[in-house]
Amino acid sequence: MKISIVGSGHVGLTTAICFAEKGHEVLCVDHDTEKLARLKNGEVWFHEPKLPELLKKHFAQKRIRFSESTAEAVKFAQAIFICVGTPTGESGRADMRFVEKVARDIAESITEYRLIVEKSTVPIMTGDRVKNTIRRYVKSDAHFDVASNPEFLREGSAIDDTLKPDRIVIGVDSAKAETLLREIYAPFEAPMIVTSIGSAELIKHASNSFLALKISFINWIARVCEHSGADVHEVARGMGLDARIGAHFLNPGIGYGGSCFPKDVEALAAISEDMGVEAPLIRLISQINREQREHFYETIQHELWVLQDKTLAFWGLSFKPNTDDLREAPSVWLAQKLLKAGAKLRVHDPVAMPAFKKLVPDAYFARDPLDATSGADALVVCTEWPQYRDVDLAKVKATLRVPMIFDGRNALDRKQAEDLGMTLIGIGKKRIGPHAKR
Ligand code: UDX
Repeated sequence: MKISIVGSGHVGLTTAICFAEKGHEVLCVDHDTEKLARLKNGEVWFHEPKLPELLKKHFAQKRIRFSESTAEAVKFAQAIFICVGTPTGESGRADMRFVEKVARDIAESITEYRLIVEKSTVPIMTGDRVKNTIRRYVKSDAHFDVASNPEFLREGSAIDDTLKPDRIVIGVDSAKAETLLREIYAPFEAPMIVTSIGSAELIKHASNSFLALKISFINWIARVCEHSGADVHEVARGMGLDARIGAHFLNPGIGYGGSCFPKDVEALAAISEDMGVEAPLIRLISQINREQREHFYETIQHELWVLQDKTLAFWGLSFKPNTDDLREAPSVWLAQKLLKAGAKLRVHDPVAMPAFKKLVPDAYFARDPLDATSGADALVVCTEWPQYRDVDLAKVKATLRVPMIFDGRNALDRKQAEDLGMTLIGIGKKRIGPHAKR
């Protein structure tokens, strides 16, 4: 089938490539000509495993092509997916100007039946808004439908998540829209649920907020563990084995970041409050998340006593492994705070250093993890990249001035740290090693 995608960012491009991989013919549109030029050269401007290879493959096979014209997208295919950004706007509400603009552009070009599918994460009622906008601006009497098909992919595993999703949700209000979406998703092996447009929109916000809630919950439990001597991993394991709770997303750390959770939690609270439904629980998810990174900073500060002129090795900058995305990354906040307190940072990340340099230029950008630890007063771990998990702590100890680690993701080998006589302070875990000399 022919499919048009408007918006060639993380969601749009991944969706386009996965549709091509399933045999569809895709036209991708973006207004950013610089990005389009790079895509036409087979270049992806962000780090996402498998994406560049699949882009090259489908570009060569002519299953995917690019354009800057929304009119061309409307002409090309019956189904047009809106995948443009919905950044955080005023007081936590999603800024909908890009979605609205695409709806107007589509309206101006429709001459025959079209299905417009919202895939960007949008507030409840956006389907109605898109429908009304198109009705207002459409120049012909062509029929059209609007549908919602939320995206659940995770950065770093976007291709696998899209090719093999846990579920496909389609929100429709016409049989024709359902038939078309069923045809598009026929090659995907995944359970499909068909709902109203409003339910589909809310499923996305509710799912992201619930996952964020699990993370904030376990982070709060981790703080109780630190005071009571319990071990957060033991607690999480004991909870997770209850099938009603489930083991996923109970990993404590220094809080969630990224382009989705922080924005979507705030947006759900703002939307529900706008409708007159108070949202204290949802507001607390964000609050605990912010407190988590502050708590980590205070732990470092308390332990090192004086931060002025202390040199810290700083591993992991992206908001999670396998991406170079720094949006809402706790590392950025923490690095700025440590630098402001007078510490010197020797940072390392497998892929996110160029992007980090633009936000936090006043750090030393290390060649490798051991270059970062060289001569440092302590090591701070912000992101659990696999290469840090597998590191030989004996080599780390040999390079550090003081064998002390603040592990914000409980990523490093505690047993090895203990055997080596290092100090290791994790999240929701008993500290290992002697008390630091003050
Ligand atoms: C998320 C959702 O998982 C995805 O379904 C949605 O489409 C977009 O938002 P993403 O932001 O790419 O995906 O990453 P995810 O793997 O969910 O992690 C988000 C953040 O939560 C990261 O900062 C991660 O470190 C943190 N996290 C995750 C935890 O702190 N603990 C966990 O147990 C899981």
